[in-house]
Amino acid sequence: MNSFGRLFKISIFGESHGPCVGIVIDGCPAGLPLTPADFAADLARRTSGRPGTTARREADAPSILSGLFEGSTTGAPVVILFENRDTDSRAYESFRHFPRPGQADFVAFHKHGGFNDYRGGGTFSGRLTTGLVAAGVIAKRLIHPAVVEAVLVEAGGSTDVEKAVNAAVKADDSVGGIVECLTRGLPVGLGEPFFDSLESLLGHLMFSIPGIKGVEFGAGFAGSRMRGSEYNDVIISAAGETATNNAGGINGGITNGNRLFFRVAVRPTASIARSQPTIDLRTGQRGEVQAAGRHDACFALRVPVIVEAACAIVVADLMLLEQRIPRIKR
Ligand SMILES: Cc1cc2nc3c(=O)[nH]c(=O)nc-3n(C[C@H](O)[C@H](O)[C@H](O)COP(=O)(O)O)c2cc1C
Repeated sequence: MNSFGRLFKISIFGESHGPCVGIVIDGCPAGLPLTPADFAADLARRTSGRPGTTARREADAPSILSGLFEGSTTGAPVVILFENRDTDSRAYESFRHFPRPGQADFVAFHKHGGFNDYRGGGTFSGRLTTGLVAAGVIAKRLIHPAVVEAVLVEAGGSTDVEKAVNAAVKADDSVGGIVECLTRGLPVGLGEPFFDSLESLLGHLMFSIPGIKGVEFGAGFAGSRMRGSEYNDVIISAAGETATNNAGGINGGITNGNRLFFRVAVRPTASIARSQPTIDLRTGQRGEVQAAGRHDACFALRVPVIVEAACAIVVADLMLLEQRIPRIKR
């Protein structure tokens, strides 16, 4: 449903144009130093403002409602809330019965029997990833000295991200992109052979980010075209270091001590400033819809820090399960 993780367990809530969005983190160890200011840098990377992102401006000031006392986590659930202040729902009225192609409007209407909050995409909105990024800040601390870094390496099929985004904006269109994520400093042994393989868990959380349509580990799909002699990562040290990293740092679903590497495909934004054919949900008759309102022409620009957060959350949960994170004592 809306929760993920076993020991570091997150539950996400809120709607894009409701009063707030946020996250509950159950199982966050006690004694972790934390202040609201610690969230600022990562939240700033997710926020809008750059060309190609939405004109909606939210302060993204975290209110920590539980689980923090005298500057440290207490072991109680950490509840972090972000108010929605810069909402303008007028444009969404037309999507209520005329679903945007490629958006979740159609499925939301049918799944929730027409009771869905369609304003700003409701619970399907990228706005909910604010809480994910906040949980990621805590997870990144827990997994230290391991470090996760993600970067947008291309947009609209071009490595010239700025040019691709500007061209899309000019054409009243949108573009997607590819995010690469690298994690250094992981121990050998995180993940399980079958259902909790590291690929499965990372895939689960990556595909929970709205608009993610592909995840590949190491050489990924290109690996299927290689011979074994080319693909196999030769082990060159007793610590398990390999000469190449076609497996992306995972063998048998388990970290092998090399860098964890995967790529994520981000779709182009559904809401474009062009009229597109659709149907009227009430009558089934054909109609037209234009995604008025404020949208990211390339929301992939905002995705790297969300991918980092999702990766750190998975790793933190596995490190707690493997008892790799020592208790903090006074
Ligand atoms: C940070 C972020 C911002 C997003 N901004 C928009 C947006 O402005 N307009 C839009 O149509 N989709 C946006 N999306 C994508 C939609 O949320 C997503 O496409 C939609 O929920 C349907 O899900 P799907 O693409 O996974 O099928 C954004 C996603 C993220 C992660």
